[in-house]
Amino acid sequence: MDLSFKTEISGPMHAELRHDSAHKHVSGEADYIDDMVLPEGALHMAAGLSDRAHADILSLDLSAVRATPGVVAVYTHHDIPGHNDIGPNHRDDEPLLAEKRIEFHGQMVFVVVAETREIARAAARKAKFTYEDLPHATDLLEARQMGYDLVTTPLTLKRGDADAGLAKAPRRLKGAMRIGGQEHFYLESHIALAIPGEDDEVTVWSSTQHPSEIQHMVANILQIPSHAVTVNTRRMGGGFGGKETQGNQFAALAAMAAKKLNRAVKFRPDRDEDMVMTGKRHDFLAEYEVGFDDEGHIQAVKANFAARCGFSSDLSGPVTDRALFHADNAYYYPDVLLTSEPLKTNTVSNTAFRGFGGPQGLVGAERMIEEVAYAVGLDPLEVRKRNFYAIDGDERCLTPYHQKVEDNVIHRVVSELEESADYQARRAAIIDFNKTSRVIRKGIALTPVKFGISFTFTPYNQAGALVHIYQDGSIHLNHGGTEMGQGLYTKVAQVLADTFQVDIDRVKITATTTAKVPNTSATAASSGSDLNGMAAYDAARQIKERLYAFAAEKWGVPAAEIEFLPNRVRVGQEEIAFPAFIKQAYMARVHLSAAGFYKTPKIHWDRAKGMGRPFFYYAYGASCSEVSIDTLTGEYQVERTDILHDVGKSLNPAIDKGQVEGAFVQGMGWLTTEELWWDAKGRLRTHAPSTYKIPLASDRPRIFNARLAEWSENREVTIGRSKAVGEPPFMLGVSVLEALSMAVASVADYRVCPQLDAPATPERVLMAVERMRKA
Ligand code: MTE
Ligand code: MOS
Repeated sequence: MDLSFKTEISGPMHAELRHDSAHKHVSGEADYIDDMVLPEGALHMAAGLSDRAHADILSLDLSAVRATPGVVAVYTHHDIPGHNDIGPNHRDDEPLLAEKRIEFHGQMVFVVVAETREIARAAARKAKFTYEDLPHATDLLEARQMGYDLVTTPLTLKRGDADAGLAKAPRRLKGAMRIGGQEHFYLESHIALAIPGEDDEVTVWSSTQHPSEIQHMVANILQIPSHAVTVNTRRMGGGFGGKETQGNQFAALAAMAAKKLNRAVKFRPDRDEDMVMTGKRHDFLAEYEVGFDDEGHIQAVKANFAARCGFSSDLSGPVTDRALFHADNAYYYPDVLLTSEPLKTNTVSNTAFRGFGGPQGLVGAERMIEEVAYAVGLDPLEVRKRNFYAIDGDERCLTPYHQKVEDNVIHRVVSELEESADYQARRAAIIDFNKTSRVIRKGIALTPVKFGISFTFTPYNQAGALVHIYQDGSIHLNHGGTEMGQGLYTKVAQVLADTFQVDIDRVKITATTTAKVPNTSATAASSGSDLNGMAAYDAARQIKERLYAFAAEKWGVPAAEIEFLPNRVRVGQEEIAFPAFIKQAYMARVHLSAAGFYKTPKIHWDRAKGMGRPFFYYAYGASCSEVSIDTLTGEYQVERTDILHDVGKSLNPAIDKGQVEGAFVQGMGWLTTEELWWDAKGRLRTHAPSTYKIPLASDRPRIFNARLAEWSENREVTIGRSKAVGEPPFMLGVSVLEALSMAVASVADYRVCPQLDAPATPERVLMAVERMRKA
């Protein structure tokens, strides 16, 4: 494969093109599954949920549900033809419909199928349960106290001797931090539409990041081969990780009912149900011990990351692993021991969410930095810099998982941002301001991000694509990745347009379907364009090679005399328009279709040993935020944020900047206002926008400067030398938390670390201010 990608920011590969559906998103013309024209006789499904956190069902009376006019069928676990498990790990720990044991408040026990969605929903509420309650653990500390099991094997990362390192360090401190969870709040809630076919066939339209998994789950539940199930996804109204595994239940039940009734069935939960029934970001308790010297150099770290995983394993293993992989952020720990503790709880099973545990680990790292900085009386930014991984290959490049950091640009990113954001002068001015301001206090923080790119489950790092060129020169593109707003379809189309040197409009982007590209991975781990871009490039390259051979033979010129120019092909002295050239190739019986494939090189990971190279490369970034807080109410405002983020050589600077800005705001929301709360009965009380506060337009920084590191280029061979962008900038939101912390610390003259937990809601900020007043 020729991987000498052009690197100039011109051709379609690096162009600042708009998202292919941008105008349709805005005008409302983009088709989501709920907009699809329903087949004749389509039915609607609604869920019957338990209202206990932990109990055995003694009896379930569904007669009133069944008797409701318009109800066509009611199904419980008894009606599942195949295996009642939709856990992605096949551990048999996640029943599609609960059998006897209820493990969280809101667990699905039965479904109703009716002529209308309203009838189905109303009927579902008429079930009569009797239960025998069992003691439940909602919070991770309760689970630990009650001796609950872990949902999966914990991970240990170890280098050197952390105990010895701590013992010989001149200074030591110990602390703990709670890091909250997060609801995905995609605009489009989960949805599935199943359409029965002949024999065992069924087609499912699913709002999923992982069509292949939906296909396998449907096959498993219906006990039919995967070849009978086709899963299609044109676009999601956001996924953010929440649609990696959580769509399984909706798709599997819609498909089951469609096959039993031989009618199309749509399953769309309401927003509250979606929030209750589907997993969220894991909240964590990080407990740490750090050894350091008087200059703020970290010498040893020992930390445990406990997570609320919910009732089943789902993705909690890899999520808690990724927390450990990022508990160093950009810092070298000479002696280190990191452990995970994935605790089972009686809550909905927590799942993937942008960063996939990485943000929680990284926030832990930043808290340790902060603690050290306050202990030695230095600006946290200075302590950060003193502990960065080295640039050139010595032992200070070794991560706790023994991968060498070889592409370190964090020094440059941070110093450029420090300069462009005028950090030092503004910090000095803020310290001055705080000396005299009684009620309003300000804070500023500049925090780095280093994020590992690749699925740590190595087999997932593969992708396929299917490219056809039709006789009129139009190009049909299909690949295994899904579109959730992040612009993947546009980027992969750019790769094709660039390879054939045609306008982007010549490339038709088609819905992701398991029938065209099989055995795909979830579109996740930010790897969508890395993987699918390369697979599409591979397909295009094959066709292009055939076209070169064809032209060389037909016109009798050497291959060097053939060149793909914008919308035309030069053969010797002659220039032929692309469509005419393709028509001639067709007439000469050239195969104008190809399947491409890609797998990420160089990566390997031995989990038992905690050693390997789980990541192909790292993405870097930094953000600087200034906040002001009201010390009487705890309310705050982000005054200004500056970002410098590394996306390698950007595939599309417009889309990438959108990703960076959106991710920052989502990360900021996670660490500030978004708070999940379960009551004593284990019921999620923050289950709607009325009780769960995501950032509004008015919450965004008043001044917001986001820039891409234009000089960056991936030193590994990736598509166009770009880097993944989806998740890393989420962690730029940490600068807001740290700036709030500084504003709070001013109340006690920066003598003590405020130890703000996340989310730093106004209440928490106020309580921290009160603690400072007493300190
Ligand atoms: N951007 C938008 N607009 N909507 C989303 O749902 N998901 C994020 C990120 N950016 C998301 C998004 C997450 S969690 C991931 S892993 C990546 O996009 C996935 O897409 P990619 O691999 O193509 O970047
Ligand atoms: Mo993203 S959390 O990897 O879907």
